[in-house]
Amino acid sequence: MNYRHLGKAGLQVSELSFGSWVTFKNQVDVDAAVEMMAVAYDAGVNFFDNAETYKRGKSEEIMGEALKRLGWRRGSYLVSTKLFWGFHDNPNEKDTLNRKYLLEAIDGSLARMDLDYVDLLYCHRADPTTPIEETVWAMHNIIERGKALYWGTSEWEAADILEAIDVAERHHLHKPIVEQPVYNLFEQHRFGPEYDDVYKKHGYGSTTWSPLASGVLTGKYKDGIPEDSRGALEGYEWLQEGLLNEQRQAVVAGLEPIARDMGATLAQFSLAWCLQNPQVSSVLTGASRVEQLHENMKALHFVDSFTPDVMAAIDRVFE
Ligand SMILES: NC(=O)c1ccc[n+]([C@@H]2O[C@H](COP(=O)([O-])OP(=O)(O)OC[C@H]3O[C@@H](n4cnc5c(N)ncnc54)[C@H](OP(=O)(O)O)[C@@H]3O)[C@@H](O)[C@H]2O)c1
Repeated sequence: MNYRHLGKAGLQVSELSFGSWVTFKNQVDVDAAVEMMAVAYDAGVNFFDNAETYKRGKSEEIMGEALKRLGWRRGSYLVSTKLFWGFHDNPNEKDTLNRKYLLEAIDGSLARMDLDYVDLLYCHRADPTTPIEETVWAMHNIIERGKALYWGTSEWEAADILEAIDVAERHHLHKPIVEQPVYNLFEQHRFGPEYDDVYKKHGYGSTTWSPLASGVLTGKYKDGIPEDSRGALEGYEWLQEGLLNEQRQAVVAGLEPIARDMGATLAQFSLAWCLQNPQVSSVLTGASRVEQLHENMKALHFVDSFTPDVMAAIDRVFE
């Protein structure tokens, strides 16, 4: 495993990390979580990602229980959670980054994970109805109270990240240091030119999500939706359009021989492709079973295989 600084922060994250969206509780119970997190940790993964909203807190409970059973030294791993959507149908506790919600919600997450603090706390989405200054102060106070060590954003527009950094600098508050954007061969917009100041000037880090576009980039959806896949899960029907999209399937068919020539599976190829972008600090992987994790961890062998010729071949597939 290699480690990259989270932007210009002192913290280093493993190039591949492991997250629990969809899988924990739906497909992965505590025993399986223990097994999978151990495989990841043994491969050098030091970052485990979660969110309050994942299965309405059950995912945090499972990860907390797994961490307890695994008994790792706290300094040896990073754990995160993310806040925004909330659980309660109440104007102050859903779809918000207001001060009251953030200060109360972090306590709920820590209780569910049975942790004293998270290493990274993300604002899971931007909230246009709350002043960014209010959110920055609340995140600063959470850090000052020792409940999180660093904070970041997820799926924020570049202008909002720059405003948050500016507010923090003006008031000498803890700045956000990391964005959690979607990033895969199909979705690259969060590293567009408008983010140049975020990453290059301010040295923001990134922990990117859905590197396999929920599994499409493994090639598993080319003949429809396999019964044992994410696409067949109750409650996730909304993903099916993207999983079966004809244009995407054509791209997958075009990428397959390039991956094969490299000696990589399509999953390994697609994960390694994310890491050829130096603005990516860590690629958050997801897996519903341990075999996938074994396969995905080997993606690291292929990061240096993306020569100009290979990149040109990929461009031709998209053309
Ligand atoms: N900040 C955000 O808004 C946000 C949003 C989404 C995700 N995330 C984070 O990013 C993490 C990763 O996202 P993701 O789960 O969507 O990643 P992904 O890599 O796009 O999809 C992972 C899923 O693909 C399938 N898969 C993975 N490896 C495979 C392999 N080798 N062969 C066949 N199938 C394979 C598995 O699903 P099946 O086996 O069930 O088909 C697995 O659960 C999440 O856990 C979460 O921590 C963050």
